[in-house]
Amino acid sequence: MSARIPVLDGRHVLLGVSGSIAAFKAVALASKLTQAGALVDVALTRGAAELIRPLSFQAITHRPVYSDPFELPEDSEIGHVTVGRRAELVLVAPATAHTIARLALGLADDFLTTSVLASTAPLLIAPAMDAGMYDHPTVQEHLARLRARGAVIVEPASGHLASGLEGRGRLAEPEVLLEAACAVLGRTGDLAGWSLLVTAGGTQEPLDPVRFVGNRSSGKMGFAIAQRARDRGAQVTLISGPSALPDLYGVRMIRVTTAREMYQAVAAELPASDALLMAAAVADFRPEHAAEQKIKKSGAELVIRLVPNPDILRETRGIDGRRGRPIRVGFAAESQDLIANSRAKLEAKDLDLVVANDITQPGSGFEADTNRATLLSCDGLEELPLLPKTVLADVILDRVLALARARQR
Ligand code: C5P
Repeated sequence: MSARIPVLDGRHVLLGVSGSIAAFKAVALASKLTQAGALVDVALTRGAAELIRPLSFQAITHRPVYSDPFELPEDSEIGHVTVGRRAELVLVAPATAHTIARLALGLADDFLTTSVLASTAPLLIAPAMDAGMYDHPTVQEHLARLRARGAVIVEPASGHLASGLEGRGRLAEPEVLLEAACAVLGRTGDLAGWSLLVTAGGTQEPLDPVRFVGNRSSGKMGFAIAQRARDRGAQVTLISGPSALPDLYGVRMIRVTTAREMYQAVAAELPASDALLMAAAVADFRPEHAAEQKIKKSGAELVIRLVPNPDILRETRGIDGRRGRPIRVGFAAESQDLIANSRAKLEAKDLDLVVANDITQPGSGFEADTNRATLLSCDGLEELPLLPKTVLADVILDRVLALARARQR
């Protein structure tokens, strides 16, 4: 399966690497960006070039690596102006206190800083520094200045630092930086200006302090929709039941446990949204009583009485969004009578679109990375082939956008 990411595919990214001990992580980042389809030009500062050889990047990006304006690679006639101007995103990772200061002041004393001045692309900065330097007022002042100019700062994590000290200053992980690159490049996408509310994962209904009634939903479909919507410029709020998936960069995350919590969150967020995509597998029932203490076995049978949970889609039918009635998308995972059951849902839950999938089909369903879905709307029925959930997410978003535009007309 291709790891290409549409928002990065074929896009020019200038990756600036400065002389932090975390520079080695930039190689993993260059690899992820390249696998995603980006054309990655790398600019090393003198400090970075002491720590890591240009060849490490070149072998991965298959493109020239620049380190000094006066020592261009022999086979390259391309200077900092060309590299800076063709960049659609400039990502400086790791950014040292020194390079942050140079960027804030507009100094132009090497290839990276001159390229940044020649560029009109968005600037993404991932600081990395040791032993409390990050919290120094000078560093914070420079970052504030860069932020005021529109730069996006990916905050460093707290943890073990190269000096042996603990603190804030660890470079964000390459996975997070890749997400941040998608979010920044996606800002001008076709969903810019739209506010989407997405739900994901299953809910857990407590039986006692350690046990619950739940389901096998992984959250992958809802997370994929949220991620792709963000990459296309939407403002996204993701309400997720318990899921092993990490928070998505650039997405407002609301974690909940039970169906009732999810209902409260959806009802609270919907008025600020243009569309609701309910990919969550909400538990239809919950134990009538959750025991305060762990239920002990006694040898006798245990009977648990289940009571219905609110049907979130049904209960929110009358709630208006930001621009009147929101586009409402439901998901139907069925093991029989897929189309008839899904059609019934379209009406009963007042939906614009139902994403129906037969969970008995191979490659479809809860834990898979793929899904074979049929889309139902009042316009008819569209059968889709087996697709990665990320690609299916884009198809669903295409339909949501078309429905929203049709309504605006
Ligand atoms: O009726 P069924 O549970 O099959 O419908 C599935 C759709 O309804 C999904 O979009 C799911 O998120 C939503 N749902 C809900 N509240 C429930 C159960 C399901 O909103 N209690």
